[in-house]
Amino acid sequence: MGIASYVGIDPDPEAIRFCEAMDPSGRGTYLQGFGEDLTRVPDRSCSFVMARVSVPYMDIGAFVREAHRVLEPGGQLWISYHTPRHVVHHLGQSLRARHVKDIVFRSYVLVNGAAFHLFGRQFRFPYNGRIESFQTRRALRRALVGAGFGDVEFQYDSRRDLASAMARRAR
Ligand SMILES: C[S@@+](CC[C@H](N)C(=O)[O-])C[C@H]1O[C@@H](n2cnc3c(N)ncnc32)[C@H](O)[C@@H]1O
Repeated sequence: MGIASYVGIDPDPEAIRFCEAMDPSGRGTYLQGFGEDLTRVPDRSCSFVMARVSVPYMDIGAFVREAHRVLEPGGQLWISYHTPRHVVHHLGQSLRARHVKDIVFRSYVLVNGAAFHLFGRQFRFPYNGRIESFQTRRALRRALVGAGFGDVEFQYDSRRDLASAMARRAR
């Protein structure tokens, strides 16, 4: 059985236009919005939620609570995320380029990821209100289990530094 319908959400209007243009199926609905606020998606209405490399830019606690709300019992959440190595690599690039604004922002991302790892807390960057962090298994597991997920599993492809997690809403 194929997927009956799906919803895509992104704050960037260009991403929404791109998805609309690239999806000829007519089964997708694309909405401008944030993963932390899925109010236009009813409770227990989805069998699967995926967020491919958008979790690093979200308030993760708010997102996983929303993902849990919209999933039907037994439904699954898949996310891919940024490891500390990814952020350190980008900070190194900013340092080599001596790009002061980037150095400050990448340093914030590093500190924010450490706060998420140690305390389960994230903070917005004061100058533009953006939120960004790296994620660790420990921090993600705590957020997912805290939101009501179980069966949490992680995968890591070291060649591409690609990390992902899968979790299930209890029945
Ligand atoms: C690295 S891109 C990944 C795009 C796409 N998911 C992919 O895998 O090719 C990150 C995406 O996350 C989106 N994003 C940023 N903040 C977000 C939020 N709060 N909620 C949902 N998506 C967000 C960005 O606009 C961008 O489209």
